[in-house]
Amino acid sequence: MGKEILQAKAVTKRFGGLVAVDNVDFTLREFEVAGIIGSNGAGKTTFFNLLTGMFVPEEGVILHKGVDITRMTPQQRVERGITRTFQLTSTFDTLSVTDNLVLAFFRAFHQASIWNLLFTKMKRFHDEPKIVSILETFDLLPVRERMVKNLSLGEKRRLEIAMAVLAEPEVLLLDEPLAGLSESEIQGVLKVLRQQFGKQTILIVEHKISHVKDFVERLTVMHEGRIIAEGGYEECLNHPEVRKSYWQIDDSAEAAHV
Ligand SMILES: Nc1ncnc2c1ncn2[C@@H]1O[C@H](COP(=O)(O)OP(=O)(O)O)[C@@H](O)[C@H]1O
Ligand SMILES: [Mg+2]
Repeated sequence: MGKEILQAKAVTKRFGGLVAVDNVDFTLREFEVAGIIGSNGAGKTTFFNLLTGMFVPEEGVILHKGVDITRMTPQQRVERGITRTFQLTSTFDTLSVTDNLVLAFFRAFHQASIWNLLFTKMKRFHDEPKIVSILETFDLLPVRERMVKNLSLGEKRRLEIAMAVLAEPEVLLLDEPLAGLSESEIQGVLKVLRQQFGKQTILIVEHKISHVKDFVERLTVMHEGRIIAEGGYEECLNHPEVRKSYWQIDDSAEAAHV
C-alpha cells in the first residue's frame, strides 16, 4: 500500500443543527484511485469541501502527509499539490479552450506574471509543449480555438479537469465530474482520467455507483454524514447497510417475507 497522502481524522461539520459530516475518518493513499458515493444529501460535497479547504470542520483534523492542514486555505492546499477541478466561470466563457489552458499554465508555473499575459500575449503560448500535450491527452485538439461557451458539456468537463491536471498536482479531487453528462461523454471523461492513473492520486465523488464501478479501486459509501461502508465495489454493493440506506433494500424484512 502507498503511503498516506490525505487523512481526515474524526472530522465533523455542522450547518446549524444539521450534522452534514459526522465524525468521519478517511485515508487516501499515494496513487490510489478512490471514490466516495452516497445518495443526495449524504454529505459528500461537504466532506470534499473539508478536504479542499472551502470549509473548516468544527471538530477533527485534516492531514496532508502528516502535516495539519485543517485551517489552510484552498490556495495553500493547491500550493501543496492538492488540486480540485476548476469550475469554469462566466469570466472565462469567451476565451478559447487553449487560452483557458494558458491561464491555468501560468497560474501553476509563472504566478507573478499572469496578468501581463492577458489577451495580448496569450497566443504565443499556444504551442507550449505542456499545453499541446494536455490538449491531446484530453481530446481537446479539435476544439482548441473554440470559445468555452460554445463547448458541449462533456468537452467543458474535460477542459476543467485538464486545467487542474496541467498544474501536475499530486492529488486530484473531483466532485461529481460526470454530473449532467451523456453516457458517451461520461466514457470520454473516464477515459482521460484513466490516463492519469499512476501519475496522480485521484479521489472522485460520485452519486451513481455504476459510473465508477470499473474506475475506482476502493469505494467509501456515505449516508447521513457518516461512512457506512468501505472496500471494493462488490463488497460495498453487498454491504447490509448500503443495501438498506442506498438501495433501500431491507434484508431483514425480505427474509421475514420468504
Ligand atoms: N452551505 C450549506 N448550508 C447549509 N446546509 C448545507 C450546506 N451545504 C450542504 N448542506 C446540507 O448538508 C447536507 C449534506 O449536503 P452535501 O454535502 O451537499 O451532500 P451531497 O454532496 O452528498 O449531496 C444536506 O442536508 C445539505 O442540505
Ligand atoms: Mg454533492
